[in-house]
Amino acid sequence: MQTVTTIEELRQARQHLPAPLGLVPTMGYLHEGHLSLVRAAKRACAAVAVSIFVNPTQFGPQEDLDRYPRDLPRDLALLEAEGVDLVWTPTPQIMYPEGYQTWVTVEHIAAPLEGAMRPGHFRGVATVVAKLFNAVQPDRAYFGQKDAQQALVIRRLVADLNFPLQVVVCPTVREADGLALSSRNVYLKPQERQAATVLYRALTAAQAAYQAGERNADQLRQVMQSVLQQEPLARPQYVSCAKLDDLQEWQGEVSGAALLSLAVFIGQTRLIDNVVVGGEF
Ligand code: PAJ
Repeated sequence: MQTVTTIEELRQARQHLPAPLGLVPTMGYLHEGHLSLVRAAKRACAAVAVSIFVNPTQFGPQEDLDRYPRDLPRDLALLEAEGVDLVWTPTPQIMYPEGYQTWVTVEHIAAPLEGAMRPGHFRGVATVVAKLFNAVQPDRAYFGQKDAQQALVIRRLVADLNFPLQVVVCPTVREADGLALSSRNVYLKPQERQAATVLYRALTAAQAAYQAGERNADQLRQVMQSVLQQEPLARPQYVSCAKLDDLQEWQGEVSGAALLSLAVFIGQTRLIDNVVVGGEF
């Protein structure tokens, strides 16, 4: 496994990798969710590259950039054990040198949900992912359904800017009790960790209602709200039942694929999760 930092080193190392090349973009502090993407890439690609970069431009001023968890030695050991070929760990100065002023803005699909709650977040994500794609030039790029809107934004970006690569979206990896793995789960105190299971419980309750025939969008949102209300440590930020193709809220009857998603504060920690009903990602 080769680890590189500068763009020049990356370009040099990339030349020697066989095609197809798979890229797994990450912010590090790797867990089984990230590793599931690496394994999917290993299965389908001749070589796998992983980027580790805590991208400052996708964090809001009040967000957790400074305390975002990091452990590069551990990450490198995990990736080595997975048989990854190349790891790129750029610095903020390499990605955003003095005078940097070019941004990628995806419009409608990035506007609701996370986009509404985190202004500028998807501008930061789309910009850094476009830069990662330009530098690495992968044939396939792997993302998790855990961040469903992010995956849709990146699919749109790839189509709109004609990146010659395939976006692969992989299922959400969960703890035994349903909590979606996230680097931010380390922020949770023991009692909050227990309370955090409410997100998946709310989603599965709405999924069960859908499977039992419920098609009214307000009712499906209400099922999620009522489960969340039973958890005193949970402060819901949004609860959504949206069209999977454009993320506009379903009104009245759900008659196609729906993304059921929510963002919930558990104490100071903001968690997101989602499931899809009536279709596939
Ligand atoms: P990060 O949060 O490190 O996540 C990297 C990738 O892992 C994303 O595609 C995310 O959806 C996926 N992932 C996270 N938790 C997962 C889980 N429980 N199951 C499956 N996949 C999971 O997402 C980012 O970094 C950044 O925004 C990035 C795309 C790297 C741009 O900076």
